[in-house]
Amino acid sequence: MTKIKVLYISISGNTRSFAQKLAEYATTQHEKNAVEPEIELREVSEATIPAKEAGPFVAMVPTYLDGGNGVDNGVKELMTNALGEYIADGGNTSLCIGIIGSGNKNFNRQYCLTAKRYAAAFDAPFIADYELRGTDQDVVRIYDVLKKTFASAAAH
Ligand SMILES: Cc1cc2nc3c(=O)[nH]c(=O)nc-3n(C[C@H](O)[C@H](O)[C@H](O)COP(=O)(O)O)c2cc1C
Repeated sequence: MTKIKVLYISISGNTRSFAQKLAEYATTQHEKNAVEPEIELREVSEATIPAKEAGPFVAMVPTYLDGGNGVDNGVKELMTNALGEYIADGGNTSLCIGIIGSGNKNFNRQYCLTAKRYAAAFDAPFIADYELRGTDQDVVRIYDVLKKTFASAAAH
């Protein structure tokens, strides 16, 4: 399998940390068995110029919402808009094959709500979630989900 492409945005570093752990784990797996795909990361920020991606990707997005309960009211995205704009403005919507969300379960119903909103906006499945910097178990679980998501996209 070719490399798994993951785009992400990270404001306070948790998503970046998790993405890097995921890529390191994939490299270790690939070195043990060349069939296991590596992960190619691309961090998007306010400074990123929209561009067309060369192939399918999964987007990882943390949750930052302002006000209200984030479900019935007060849904205002903070901080993560640059990733959504990169996907939409770069003509990348149809290449987005999944969304991985992160957040903090203390936010209850708002947990991972940004990712759920991205999934709806880009008509892509919400494929996994994890809290904050994620655990080693999250790395193993989400690598598996990524492999399945890319394998199924390649088969269509
Ligand atoms: C101002 C602010 C608002 C947040 N709102 C939510 C939220 O609505 N739901 C949620 O699950 N997590 C929420 N979080 C938690 C972040 O999504 C979480 O800390 C995430 O790991 C941050 O990722 P990053 O370090 O890559 O930016 C919020 C954090 C901050 C600082």
